[in-house]
Amino acid sequence: NKKAFIFDLDGVIVDTAKYHFLAWQKIAKELNIDFTLEHNELLKGVSRVRSLDIILELGKVEASQEDKDKWLIQKNEDYLTYLVDMDESEILPGVFTILKFLKEKNQPIALGSASKNARPILEKTGILSYFNVVVDGNDVTNAKPDPEVFLIAAKLLNISAENAIVFEDSVAGVQAANIGKMTSVGIGEASILHEAKYIFKDFTEIDTDFIEELIRK
Ligand code: BG6
Ligand code: MG
Repeated sequence: NKKAFIFDLDGVIVDTAKYHFLAWQKIAKELNIDFTLEHNELLKGVSRVRSLDIILELGKVEASQEDKDKWLIQKNEDYLTYLVDMDESEILPGVFTILKFLKEKNQPIALGSASKNARPILEKTGILSYFNVVVDGNDVTNAKPDPEVFLIAAKLLNISAENAIVFEDSVAGVQAANIGKMTSVGIGEASILHEAKYIFKDFTEIDTDFIEELIRK
């Protein structure tokens, strides 16, 4: 059966998860909300709007829509300042090897990200051309763990969900892949991503034999 390989962006392809964290932390500080790296795991893979709601819930802060809109803009403006000088060097170790291997093997590749900043990031880092389709935060209505973003990607590639393989660094994203009946590959800590079918610390730990095995299955 033909397969499709779907990549999350932030924290999988590029090291932007740290920038999202720093930008949210600034907002949390302003609101006097204790926001740790552990809390941040709840935000990974989650949409911008939902992320703010989670932070406000953590601090038991009630806010008007007007304030929320202001903080959402503030967060994104701050986040974008980290991306200004972004280039190929921000691609996480091992990612290129796997992308190139998939291309060599003529495998369809998709991006499945919650971010509305996905395209400029792919352009700045020079890897947009690897992706047959890009599905991002501008294309979906339901945030991960809803599988919508991955289902759209598989559909655009004409591959059934069961034949899609998803690389994810977030709990919400792993859950989305599982709910969508896709093969989930967690990139990160096993203690956090234990719901994933396979888990690797990063892409340097994934060898091409493993990818080949996924292609053949
Ligand atoms: C996800 C990130 O990829 O995109 C989240 O893991 C982020 O941290 C979400 O909140 C939305 O991204 P953006 O760039 O549209 O704010
Ligand atoms: Mg991610």
